Amino acid sequence: MKEQSKEIDKFLTSLLKDVGEKLFVDADRNKSVATKSGRNDLVTNFDKSTEKSVVQTIKENYPDAVIVSEEGYGDTPDSMDGLVFFVDPIDGTMNFVKRRDDFASMIGVYLDGKPYVGAIIDVMNKKIYHGGPEIGVYENEHKLENPENLELSQGLVDISGPMVLANKFNTQKVVHHSSGIRIFGSAGIVFKHLVTGKEVMYMSYLAPWDLAAGRVLCESMGLSVVGVDGTPVNMLKSQVVIAGTQKVVSEVLETVKNCD
Ligand code: IPD
Ligand code: CA
Ligand code: CA
Repeated sequence: MKEQSKEIDKFLTSLLKDVGEKLFVDADRNKSVATKSGRNDLVTNFDKSTEKSVVQTIKENYPDAVIVSEEGYGDTPDSMDGLVFFVDPIDGTMNFVKRRDDFASMIGVYLDGKPYVGAIIDVMNKKIYHGGPEIGVYENEHKLENPENLELSQGLVDISGPMVLANKFNTQKVVHHSSGIRIFGSAGIVFKHLVTGKEVMYMSYLAPWDLAAGRVLCESMGLSVVGVDGTPVNMLKSQVVIAGTQKVVSEVLETVKNCD
């Protein structure tokens, strides 16, 4: 099992390195941009071409695996049996288009429903966060220490902008009890801050491909990832997710429970 984890970790890091090198250049190129569910939900020709080639490479190397991906090149499974790869070709497409920075590419792998191996590349900083419960978590080749189990008052939180503006789930109280709020516009970039201990909590409505890799890395490092009612997350649907240190997640769940 550990050998297979290591092999998939090597496969993901080499694949995301290639994707990252390409997107680093693509960030400065002209893009064809379209909207999906609304004017701020963007997709570019690079989201599609990246996903197409990533899905193809996974299929060539793991022909029996199931692939869940954002732009429609994957499968639509109704079970988590066997090896399931979740692909987000560009996470933070708005940042990719408007800022040409703070976007990621992510792949999370699950085995029979359990977090197995995950990888997130911070494209413009050329750093890959990768690993899993059997092998630990790395920033490029450097093994990361588990983040300290800090309390809410000791750290920065990242919560989706619309959720805080509407005070959904009592999130303004959460912000007041923290060291402050940061909003990056890419789930992958936020997960990077959680696994390196720079932030203590992330709360957002996330699709399976937004969550998959980050959840593997967080849970491999003693961080907690749950639904907004404290129940385990379901990797086959979109949901509001709370990820962070164990102390902060318990504190936030109490605050959420007391919302009007
Ligand atoms: C989005 C980003 C954003 C999060 C959204 C995601 P996309 O991913 O991760 O930070 O708030 O929920 O959909 O669409 O750029 O891959
Ligand atoms: Ca995406
Ligand atoms: Ca995403």
